[in-house]
Amino acid sequence: MENKIIKGFSKLSRIEKLKYLGEISGKGEQIEADLDYFRLNDLEQQSLLDEISENTLSNFFLPFGIAPNFVINNKVYHLPMVTEESSVIAAASRSAKFWADKGGFHAEIVSVEKTGQVHFLWNGKSDRLKLAFPELKKELMCATHGLTTNMRRRGGGILDLSLIDMSHEMENYHQLHVSFNTLDAMGANFINSCLEMMASTLETFIRSQVDWTDEEHECEIVMSILSNYTPDCLVKCWIECDIKDLDDVFDGMTGEVFANKFLKATQIAELDVYRACTHNKGIMNGVDAVALATGNDFRAVEANAHVWASQTGKYKSLTKAEVSDGRFRYELKLPLALGTVGGLTKLHPLAKLGLELLGDPSAKDLMMMTAASGLANNFGAIRSLVTTGIQHGHMKMHLSNLLNAFNANKAEKLMAKSRFAKSTVSYSEVENFLNTIRNTK
Ligand code: MEV
Repeated sequence: MENKIIKGFSKLSRIEKLKYLGEISGKGEQIEADLDYFRLNDLEQQSLLDEISENTLSNFFLPFGIAPNFVINNKVYHLPMVTEESSVIAAASRSAKFWADKGGFHAEIVSVEKTGQVHFLWNGKSDRLKLAFPELKKELMCATHGLTTNMRRRGGGILDLSLIDMSHEMENYHQLHVSFNTLDAMGANFINSCLEMMASTLETFIRSQVDWTDEEHECEIVMSILSNYTPDCLVKCWIECDIKDLDDVFDGMTGEVFANKFLKATQIAELDVYRACTHNKGIMNGVDAVALATGNDFRAVEANAHVWASQTGKYKSLTKAEVSDGRFRYELKLPLALGTVGGLTKLHPLAKLGLELLGDPSAKDLMMMTAASGLANNFGAIRSLVTTGIQHGHMKMHLSNLLNAFNANKAEKLMAKSRFAKSTVSYSEVENFLNTIRNTK
């Protein structure tokens, strides 16, 4: 049946919504039963989850797991991760274990500045606006005083404010470019509120200038919004060891051969955009999983990382490997705007728990842990790619998904796990195996 536009869906009660979906899908009450099945019995918790979004009907579960034994700056962390991909936590855990006795992950915060912009159109002699800017700046800062009180009390707030003439790019286009320190908050709401306040102050200021022409009194605010690109909110994370300590990476491969092959793999990810994309996706496997488990906005994290990867004008890998003087060093530098207060961080029960498991870290600490998770996943991927190939470990982890897809029972799963312990897993091999054991019963 073809769907029709429905008006006022959000105004329907949950039961009415389910009834409507049941009718149009032809599945009747089954839809309600399926969606009810995944709701919590604790109505208070369920209503908290319901209210996070609009038109909520149920919960969508993803595995929440732990990648244990991350040594980061000499401290041990067990990282909470949420991911739908079967091999991500396994890869992170394996890399964490591998590096734990080689100095672990080293991490440092490079900077913590975030940016917001008021985009506006103004047609006048650009010198006029420039000359008036010191006074305008004072008024803009003053106007946001009330909004920034708490943040300033804790040591953050608005760091700087500049006027940028962009009229060479688009007729009359100007920007207020504002930098912020939002401390442990991701800060999106704080930044956007400050920017909207600045926008209306800017309009009033421009309108009230004496000696300006009628045209110069006009200012059109196009939009006021934070930027998810935060090249000045940056974390660096690296692993390093003697090349001979890599001798145990793979049977029959010396540390030196491994390190050089690893180096080539990362150089390819710098040279070739097809490879760079997949290389960086492997980093984001680890980064997003920690971001999700701690209630952070993983879309913002993704967008940020990929612009950063293109900062030279060409999309490249986010990591750099170095092999010299008998040492192997591998580094990830990444802009990461994360929060450990505000947003969903304390509201979502499992995000709150995720942060508790990390010892209620500051945003800076969480940036370092998240970067370590990204680097661990990427190291694990490259390690497999240049030794066994990716499918060996990947399909082993995927075996459970395949068995579930074929409705394998407990006994069949046990037999399959032992059958595929040492051989390659594939969809058809698993299907054949299950058919064989089912037919010989
Ligand atoms: C799979 O999710 C991620 C990898 O493709 C990353 C990579 O190729 O580096 C394994």
